[in-house]
Amino acid sequence: MTPRTAYLNGQFLPLDEAKISPLDRGFLFGDGVYEVIPVYNNCLFHCEAHITRLNSSLAGIRMIPPLSYPEWETILETVVEKNGKEDQWLYIQVTRGIDSIRDHQFPKHVVPTIFVVSYPKTRLTKEEQSQGICVTAITDIRWKYCHIKTTARLAYVLMYQEAKDAGFDEGIIINNGYAQEGTTSNFFMIRHGVIMTPPKTPLLLSGITRDCILSLAEKNKIPYRETKISERDLQKADELWITSSTRGVYPVINLNGHAVGNGKAGPLWERMWTLYDAEVTHFSLSVSH
Ligand code: PDD
Repeated sequence: MTPRTAYLNGQFLPLDEAKISPLDRGFLFGDGVYEVIPVYNNCLFHCEAHITRLNSSLAGIRMIPPLSYPEWETILETVVEKNGKEDQWLYIQVTRGIDSIRDHQFPKHVVPTIFVVSYPKTRLTKEEQSQGICVTAITDIRWKYCHIKTTARLAYVLMYQEAKDAGFDEGIIINNGYAQEGTTSNFFMIRHGVIMTPPKTPLLLSGITRDCILSLAEKNKIPYRETKISERDLQKADELWITSSTRGVYPVINLNGHAVGNGKAGPLWERMWTLYDAEVTHFSLSVSH
């Protein structure tokens, strides 16, 4: 099998030839940030929003954006093109760079490490996605800057694994009695026809898919609210969804072993899935390549 093409510090090369120093601060400290961008029909879905978020994550760790938007576009489109025609998801990682010794202090005159790769992505049908997922509540063990999409992901990895080990597909992070987000996603709760999701605070990542869902709700006059949601509220949900760039909007059919609503994907999810799918299709046809 031909290896996937990656981009590393100015070079396009086979992924298995991409090598990084053990003194890279991303490796030593998790001192870096990342993005995941879905690619449909060769078009990068909401690319500008992802690069804007990348730049705010960089600002959050006191790094200057290493590339301009057009420079990112050229690199990302090249990687996508070299990796074939199918739908993909792009992974971008920027670290503070390589130090001469391991030292907590920011090094002077360091050059950021920039890594990009893409993987095939399957676009599920409504029927496939309507099978839904099972989630469980997980106690928050994260730091206080969860709005930064940092590569330091150990807390998320441990919480996700905790959910998996207990037989669930995803964990909903509970901080002081309030649900914040999934371990790899944002979440929405539907009650009496109103879509609700927690407001943007440093306790969650401001998801690009989350924003897309809210703007679809706005455009289509579906009532929505950004509001705090307690762990107890979750149990009263008519519907629960999780959202992310890799999964779109996914129905949750079971919470902590109990059915959500009637235990099937709900009517509002079906409507939102259709709207989101139409948005993806419209977007990928309107961007010319
Ligand atoms: N993560 N919250 C967390 C903790 C996440 O890890 C993600 C996505 C999201 C959703 O963000 P977006 O809609 O912009 O993808 C929210 C990606 C997909 C990942 O780490 O693989």
